[in-house]
Amino acid sequence: MTTIQAHGGKLINLINESYDFSHIVKEIELDDFALSDLELIANGAFSPLTGFMNQADYQSVVEKMRLADGTVWSIPITLPVTKEKSAELIIGEQVKLVKDGSVYGVIEVTEIYEPNKEVEAENVYRTKDLAHPGVAKLFSRPNIYVAGSITLVKRIERDRFKEFYLDPVETREIFHQKGWATVVGFQTRNPVHRAHEYIQKSALEIVDGLFLNPLVGETKSDDIPADVRMESYQVLLKNYYPENRVFLGVFPAAMRYAGPREAIFHAMVRKNYGCTHFIVGRDHAGVGDYYGTYDAQLIFKNFTQEELGILPLFFEHSFYCKACGNMASTKTCPHGKEDHVILSGTKVREMLSNGQTPPPEFSRKEVVEVLIRGMSKVHA
Ligand code: ADX
Repeated sequence: MTTIQAHGGKLINLINESYDFSHIVKEIELDDFALSDLELIANGAFSPLTGFMNQADYQSVVEKMRLADGTVWSIPITLPVTKEKSAELIIGEQVKLVKDGSVYGVIEVTEIYEPNKEVEAENVYRTKDLAHPGVAKLFSRPNIYVAGSITLVKRIERDRFKEFYLDPVETREIFHQKGWATVVGFQTRNPVHRAHEYIQKSALEIVDGLFLNPLVGETKSDDIPADVRMESYQVLLKNYYPENRVFLGVFPAAMRYAGPREAIFHAMVRKNYGCTHFIVGRDHAGVGDYYGTYDAQLIFKNFTQEELGILPLFFEHSFYCKACGNMASTKTCPHGKEDHVILSGTKVREMLSNGQTPPPEFSRKEVVEVLIRGMSKVHA
């Protein structure tokens, strides 16, 4: 059995913890966002990228959702620095990539350029509205981009849930060992509620395994914290999923909230982790009302299946229907809204913070218990 090819054909590995950087003097201070990008380039999650994007790739991604060589890629991966910092840098030299006093990487600077962030926002996020968390993040970061190939010289240390941080090479090996020829990837930045469970299990009816791959990098402040979510995933899997059909591992990336564009990106990355299928439900990676409910599905029409290499599985808005007496979607349920148990993310967070229990039709009781406990600590 062979695992699926990485995006672009080759799984990238740019990790070298014995790399000697003692001769390098200059440094760039990374934010959390850039540090997570650095790690994900190096461990191959962002294959075929080998560094922070140069201007040709950046512009091509912004305008055409492709790298300059035509490979599908929908989200710019860039290293922003201030004008003052950029003035210090020289093309061709190596620079240390530093966070909180530790050197995590080295970049070989090949280009320094000024992006047009207005165009980036309009194309990637479909809005320039600063109320959009991804756009706000884009404009809050410095205005000059530094390009070049990278090496990761130090792994990021994690306090908790260490065993769930796996590189693509490791998840691929695990899927192989489990004998899974087909694996569906599931992206989430939320606890897994019944609707999530329903679409995951619908997918599990047709593939060998589920890779539950929650995003645990930077998210907006009102999303439920990753460590609370991690506990909720474990209790859910223990009680409601067959152990040999599901594997939990985290995706330590920052959330962009770029909706449709991020759905493509999420799919390519999951292919690198070894998934053959990827779930895209309602308003994938969306926020507020910026994207249509199914825009993140429609965007896949821009690419051939051959170019994508991973098969997207699309699901309609799902919910519990009291009249049907089970989980359903607009595709399978004839009843009206009055029979459907639907709660907005905001409403659920509000309930949990107040110690109120969302109904069992919405979320499993074991999950709710973990979330209420977790949220009370967050608000303590
Ligand atoms: S996301 O920002 O990570 O996409 P979320 O964790 O809410 O947000 O969603 C995870 C996945 O489940 C996405 O593919 C999303 O489209 C899908 N999804 C979430 N809720 C529903 C629902 N009620 N019905 C169908 N799909 C859903």
